[in-house]
Amino acid sequence: MRELSNIIEEYKKKTPKSAEMHAAASQFIQGGVGSPFRYYEPYPFFVDHGKGGRIWDVDGNEYIDMNQCYGAIIGGHAHPEINKAIGEQAEKGTMFGIPGPITEKLLKELLRRYPSMRFFRFANSGAEATMYALRLARAFTGKDKIIKVEGCYHGAHDALLISDKPHRPSHMGPAWAPTPTIESAGVLYDTAKHTLVVPWNDPDALEQCLQRNLGQVAALIVEPIVANFGMCLPEKGYLEQVREITRRHNILLIFDEVKVGIRLAAGGGTEITGVKPDIICLSKAFGGGLPIAALGGSEALWDMFYPLGETIHFGTYNANPVSVAASIACLTKVMTDDAYKHLNKLGEKFKKGVDESLRRHGIKAVVPGIGGMWTVFFGIDKHPKNFRETLGIDKGMWRKWWMSLVTKGLFITAPSAYEETFIGAGHTEKDIDEALNKIDDAFKELI
Ligand SMILES: Cc1ncc(COP(=O)(O)O)c(C=O)c1O
Repeated sequence: MRELSNIIEEYKKKTPKSAEMHAAASQFIQGGVGSPFRYYEPYPFFVDHGKGGRIWDVDGNEYIDMNQCYGAIIGGHAHPEINKAIGEQAEKGTMFGIPGPITEKLLKELLRRYPSMRFFRFANSGAEATMYALRLARAFTGKDKIIKVEGCYHGAHDALLISDKPHRPSHMGPAWAPTPTIESAGVLYDTAKHTLVVPWNDPDALEQCLQRNLGQVAALIVEPIVANFGMCLPEKGYLEQVREITRRHNILLIFDEVKVGIRLAAGGGTEITGVKPDIICLSKAFGGGLPIAALGGSEALWDMFYPLGETIHFGTYNANPVSVAASIACLTKVMTDDAYKHLNKLGEKFKKGVDESLRRHGIKAVVPGIGGMWTVFFGIDKHPKNFRETLGIDKGMWRKWWMSLVTKGLFITAPSAYEETFIGAGHTEKDIDEALNKIDDAFKELI
């Protein structure tokens, strides 16, 4: 068995320039990173460039990238079609704050992929999309409260920074009626009064929550396929029951498809589950690598937004033409039917390989997921059905495995045991074969 300290020493030897850059950046930004989730001990490597399924750091080390910018890259890094679209639009000008000719093309493509939606509006990040989704739901229903699922992250704005990864069992309340816990200093205490929390895969708990808050709830926000406490699929019939319950209580159902949308299928989680929500939030893979988000609404919500209605949705950067151009190229030229087939085939091969390798080494772990999105949970032998069932995972083992993989040149996931791989259409069979060899080698170091 290899010690973590030994792996970290090897990592340090391979990444001296990253160490220097991190030390310099740390003087001017906390943790030396642009977004805190990118930090890990002893320091993150600094990236120089990427191509397809691979990235290279400033020390010249090559990595197979299965984090794909937390799922924001789907066709591979520096895709020529997307770069061409960005370049052509940049030549014409990057931003005007005036409507232009290309937005309609993107809207049509989105509505083709998500036919249950009547319209889409644009924003710049997943957090913005979910923030506007809540506002729209509150405006439409005239109710204040929102329900979310325990363990799920929907962006760093106050209303949803509740019970995203609660970690103190004494504060979490009963499993069937979790106590909303605030996850950041600075979030108003009262926020937790308006954001209620339910367990995933438990329709009775949702019904009871609505009974306790009768006539006060505007919406339930869920990922149709959870990708935020690792991968956690809805049990058979769960989402159908959720749809029935939300309809019966006259509350809106919001699908946060920021991670799974566009990625798991052309029409994301909505297409895969067949359940039709009232509102859909998209971002990440949707932008093909540029910042953009979209908020879709059903027919009933058409006239809610200003100038038809009184709900506000503003933004200098909304529908910025460079992001729109990149998104059109990603959706229409890169993510074709064949690209989805390729991605899913690689995903299956990956999952099979990891399972076999775990079995060979006798390591207790499960690998839940779908398509190209997989999580390895060490220390448990049953797929968790909700966040509480992940509390027993072996994070120490995961950390050692993850660090070992980084040192071997595989950036398997973002630096958290709750993240998943993002296998994309930019990966190749060779990427998967090499990744599986590295994974197997890293497993050997755990036993
Ligand atoms: C499901 C989900 N919703 C929303 C967000 C927030 O997206 P962004 O980081 O673009 O604000 C995330 C980010 O990871 C997410 O996973």
